[in-house]
Amino acid sequence: MNIGVFDSGLGGLTILKSLLKELPEYNYVYLGDNARVPYGNRSAETIYEFTKQAVDFLFKKNCKLVILACNTATSNALVKIQKEYLPKYFPDRRVLGVIKPTIENIKENNHLRVGIVGTKATVNSGAFVREIHKVLPKAEVYQQACPMLVPFIENGEKNEKILKLILEEYLHFLLQKKITTIVLACTHYGLIKKQFQDVVGPKIKVISEGRLVADKLRTYLNKHPEIEKNLDKKYQTEYFVTDLSPDYHELIRLFLGSHWKDTKINLINLSS
Ligand code: DGL
Repeated sequence: MNIGVFDSGLGGLTILKSLLKELPEYNYVYLGDNARVPYGNRSAETIYEFTKQAVDFLFKKNCKLVILACNTATSNALVKIQKEYLPKYFPDRRVLGVIKPTIENIKENNHLRVGIVGTKATVNSGAFVREIHKVLPKAEVYQQACPMLVPFIENGEKNEKILKLILEEYLHFLLQKKITTIVLACTHYGLIKKQFQDVVGPKIKVISEGRLVADKLRTYLNKHPEIEKNLDKKYQTEYFVTDLSPDYHELIRLFLGSHWKDTKINLINLSS
């Protein structure tokens, strides 16, 4: 069986890239719902419905375990999927998100002045603030939604000057709050981590989730041999998208770098 990796678009590739690097032996199925990206401006109900469709699709593709490589889906849909949907329809499958590994890292490193950047839906869910306060009640946590960034990245926009201006505008509030750590709580932002670091300066720790998710998945699989033993280990990855523009093909190759093996990208329809 496979490991599914789902995002609304390209952002999940930052997670997949780390998984391919750290845990290359498994078989992955990547799904980007790029026909409906961004999810970040949508209601929690719609995000839940879209995420459920994606999870169903990945289960049909023989995934034992699905990683929601999307903070927007994790913060708005994961709990309901884990507590209501799976027990009723797929009791032997698992769905994991990207928030828990990040929170564990914040706790392990005792980060106490934290800035969160993400989509509007992630920020509005309050999930990061809540989860950080559970493990570090004294932490000061400030949030900033950055709705322009996902369209910028999905369009393959390369204008660094414009990106810098947008980042300076969004990060102004967090820098005023004297944060010492900033969490890129949107997997898309992992693709512009360097640009974030340039704007916040070298003293602020920039956390992106790829590596953290891969490390925690390894720990999870060690703890759950009943799941691990069902996973195929043939070093294969399949790609599915809901809109196949020529640009997209190119962007996927670009973002995966040396992890891209000239694989076919398959077009599917999630909503039918
Ligand atoms: N990459 C996604 C995230 O981590 C969401 C992007 C979007 O669809 O708005 O939140």
